Amino acid sequence: MPAKPQTVTETLALGTVQLAKGSPSPRTDAQVLLAFALGRERDWLVTHGDSFLSAGQAARYAALCEKRASGMPIPYITGFAGFYNREFAVNEHVLIPRPETEHLVEEAIAFLQGKIDPHAPVKQLFTVFEAGVGSGAIACTIAAEVSGAVVDGTDMSAAALKVAEYNSRRLNVNARCSFAHADVVKENGRRVYDVIVANLPYIPTGDVPQRPDPVGFEPLLALDGGPDGLSLYRKLLAAVPAMLRGGGLLLMEAAPPTVHALAELTRLALPQAAIEVRADYAGLDRYVRARAA
Ligand SMILES: C[S@@+](CC[C@H](N)C(=O)[O-])C[C@H]1O[C@@H](n2cnc3c(N)ncnc32)[C@H](O)[C@@H]1O
Repeated sequence: MPAKPQTVTETLALGTVQLAKGSPSPRTDAQVLLAFALGRERDWLVTHGDSFLSAGQAARYAALCEKRASGMPIPYITGFAGFYNREFAVNEHVLIPRPETEHLVEEAIAFLQGKIDPHAPVKQLFTVFEAGVGSGAIACTIAAEVSGAVVDGTDMSAAALKVAEYNSRRLNVNARCSFAHADVVKENGRRVYDVIVANLPYIPTGDVPQRPDPVGFEPLLALDGGPDGLSLYRKLLAAVPAMLRGGGLLLMEAAPPTVHALAELTRLALPQAAIEVRADYAGLDRYVRARAA
């Protein structure tokens, strides 16, 4: 016998119960997934609580809930994640951009905007390099916010580069973003940059979370930073002195337990730079900011 049709309100209540076992926010997750399954905004669910789902809609919603119940993060289910007030396409080949990474973007934008000369006779261009672009959230946001920014980026994942390129087209910044398959930095054709930014993998190998932890759904290549979490940053810092313009800005995200060691490595690489460790929204030491001499 076919299942009895259910209303939006009934479906949400059942979905919330199903997701409560594995999610810290089951009601919100149930709403987001139902809105996605129906192709509606979340507000619509509130005003249409008595509407009935078709059998196809119910089946689609059930499949989405099953994925979420397995621990899969919502952005991998819906294919989109919010970052700095924009939507970025994501898939299982890229890290889901994090709110704390917005600090790097904010710093880079403020620094570049501070360099804009309103009396310049021609449009100023600023060079930006990002190592490990992933979805392109950092690179594309900087390009979208600073119209004179020209951004080069690298990633070791060909699949991630496709996502970054797709996002650069969606945000109409592809003419100023150029992404390459490379191990941290491109060996040939390096430029000198006003800003170098990186959110490279920084979890020590032994600490990388496993499923059903949501982080365990993200690509290992985006998480594993080697034995002490800093292997990729060592590689970047070896190249930075030749790549960063005098007076330029280097920004690198890490984790509270490793960020001070990263600052020490930065002092060795750029002994004349003004180097600080800065905190994230939660007050946790999160990133290194180095202003070259
Ligand atoms: C932590 S994720 C950050 C992604 C993105 N920048 C963000 O903030 O959302 C790190 C990225 O570095 C890339 N990566 C890992 N090893 C790399 C390497 N040796 N060279 C360049 N990129 C690398 C991963 O594929 C992943 O996309």
